[in-house]
Amino acid sequence: MDEMIHRQSIADLAAAMNLREDAADPCIMVIFGASGDLTKRLLVPSLFNLYCDNLLPPSFAILGMAMDDFTTESFRAKMDADVREFSRRDPFDEQAWQAFCKAIHYIQGTFDDASAFTRLQSEIKAIDSEYHTGGNVLFYMATPPSLFGMISSQLEASGLNDDNGGWHRIIVEKPFGTDLASAIELNREILSFWKEEQVYRIDHYLGKEAVQNLLAFRFANGMFEPLWNRTHIDHIQITATEQVGVEWRGAYYEKAGVMRDMIQNHLFQMMAYLCMEPPVSFDAEAIRNEKFKLLSAVRQMSHEDVAENAVRGQYGEGVKPDGSPAAGYRQEVHVDPHSNTETFAALKLRIDNWRWHGVPVYLRSGKAMENKGTEIVVQFRRAPEFTFRGTPAFGQLEANQLIFRIQPEEGIELRFLAKRPGPSMHMRKVNMHFEYDEAFTRQPGTGYETMLYDCMHGDASLFSRTDLVETSWRIVQPVLDVWRDERAVEFPNYPFGSWGPKASFELLNPGHRRWLDPIPRRVLECVPMFEGSDDAMLKAFAMMLKPMVFNAGDEIVSYGSEGGELFIIEKGSVEIVDPKGWVRTELGEGQVFGEVSLLITKKRQASVRARTYCVVYTLEKRDFVKVLKDKPQFAERVMQMARERYNVIVDASQLIAGEADE
Ligand code: BG6
Repeated sequence: MDEMIHRQSIADLAAAMNLREDAADPCIMVIFGASGDLTKRLLVPSLFNLYCDNLLPPSFAILGMAMDDFTTESFRAKMDADVREFSRRDPFDEQAWQAFCKAIHYIQGTFDDASAFTRLQSEIKAIDSEYHTGGNVLFYMATPPSLFGMISSQLEASGLNDDNGGWHRIIVEKPFGTDLASAIELNREILSFWKEEQVYRIDHYLGKEAVQNLLAFRFANGMFEPLWNRTHIDHIQITATEQVGVEWRGAYYEKAGVMRDMIQNHLFQMMAYLCMEPPVSFDAEAIRNEKFKLLSAVRQMSHEDVAENAVRGQYGEGVKPDGSPAAGYRQEVHVDPHSNTETFAALKLRIDNWRWHGVPVYLRSGKAMENKGTEIVVQFRRAPEFTFRGTPAFGQLEANQLIFRIQPEEGIELRFLAKRPGPSMHMRKVNMHFEYDEAFTRQPGTGYETMLYDCMHGDASLFSRTDLVETSWRIVQPVLDVWRDERAVEFPNYPFGSWGPKASFELLNPGHRRWLDPIPRRVLECVPMFEGSDDAMLKAFAMMLKPMVFNAGDEIVSYGSEGGELFIIEKGSVEIVDPKGWVRTELGEGQVFGEVSLLITKKRQASVRARTYCVVYTLEKRDFVKVLKDKPQFAERVMQMARERYNVIVDASQLIAGEADE
């Protein structure tokens, strides 16, 4: 009787849910390690989102297994409390949750206990007959990789790993090994229990809409693909930075470092999507074949190449975004006080194929950085300038940039030059935007929804294959080897809350290329020169200002040199030193120096030296000239500063007239 009522309620629910035709296959999702963080923060909120979006069939159930002592009832109560903390669904649908929660089950057991798996097997059978899941089971390994083999062997012993009577798949979380050898070993172990097509290796970056959109953008728009090659593209930058330090994960991070934690997986995945050849279809194998070809074309570094093409950093103490002091990495919990682990890394990679030969790809990731952001910059080659000879635009053409913002704001920007209104041919960089939040309405997700859904559908295109994982390790292995063998004597080499070590800026060949690190709005707002500027003007300045990094003691400006730029201090402090070597004054965040060279051609009157690690943004004379007419109040302030500091008097009208003649 109970059974009948239950079935009736499933049927009612399916009708009431208005279940979509493309809903996932019926199945049971077994989560090993279900009492951990992943389940409460990501898995259950994601499954609930799928459920609310009518993408989960009523014949779906969750079966959690872990060593913690829960019953199904107490586990449901825990999930009930957790979902309210971690679900971002707005509004939270109480009725839907109550229905969904009934499909959550739990059994207690340790993974080395064969009898626990016998119980698991009978529980799966019982749930299958209750929910009609067609014998399909998805095993989610929310456990450390060291347990994958043990769990798989227990599943094999219980006959739960073959596809007889419904599909059986496993999802495994990174890290897939800690180097090439361990990845090969882990793959060998997993594949001794499962067929490749049963294994879904998850990389949560591929769950991000803006990452998936890279493929849509490239292959659904005819406009860009013809330009996507070495003839038109100068270089590519892929950056993923975080503001937080390692927090409580010191023990894990000590063995990982950012190269293993972020670059070998997340950044390589984005690079593959951005640079691979068009696949013949969106079929999983077609996409993964192209990714594999791309990664295989990345030039392997020799040990000598590593010094030139890889930069590592470790954060020291500094300041958190809220202004409070932050500990350095070596002072974090469970971190060796002499740790050699890198919390920042930047790489310059070369892709040896016809499309990309000669186009460097720069990758960069770090903890405890200035901001949290993931973005990709595709910088095109500059247009030839000869047409503009004899106009003010000559010598001022800048390269076009296509910027994919992956997070936190998701969108795409195209930066190009436009003629400034007026009689003469002046150019200014302007921006065309697409923002997800403006264009689409959607519920906030966790990023796991699509991946779980795809796995329940048997679509593996967002998941990594054995050869992809191993090829990625092959690329980073020489760097890992050199960094392991040669201690970083310069650690810590960047303060908490900065843009990383100076060497990362040098990697880009600064005369020619720079990281696209926009000056933070809060710094711009406190620069007296920009006072009263409207939003559009601040944005225009932000696009012109270019970052540079100096270490304590570095000379930023030399006495007697002919400078052509003004500097804004974003982080750290500098000292102005007169020709006799006396420190005349110190300047700190938000303050400016070097303004005279924007106004007159005169050799530098003093040297400027970094007192601490500094990030300074430069405004080049040619950009200053561009803003002169548009922003006379800004030019006036620069002149006032020059008057007060150096007694340099310049007439604004002369400057503007001079600019018009250029
Ligand atoms: C994880 C790393 O894979 O990605 C973490 O282990 C990192 O160290 C996280 O914080 C970053 O993910 P996201 O989505 O916040 O960029």
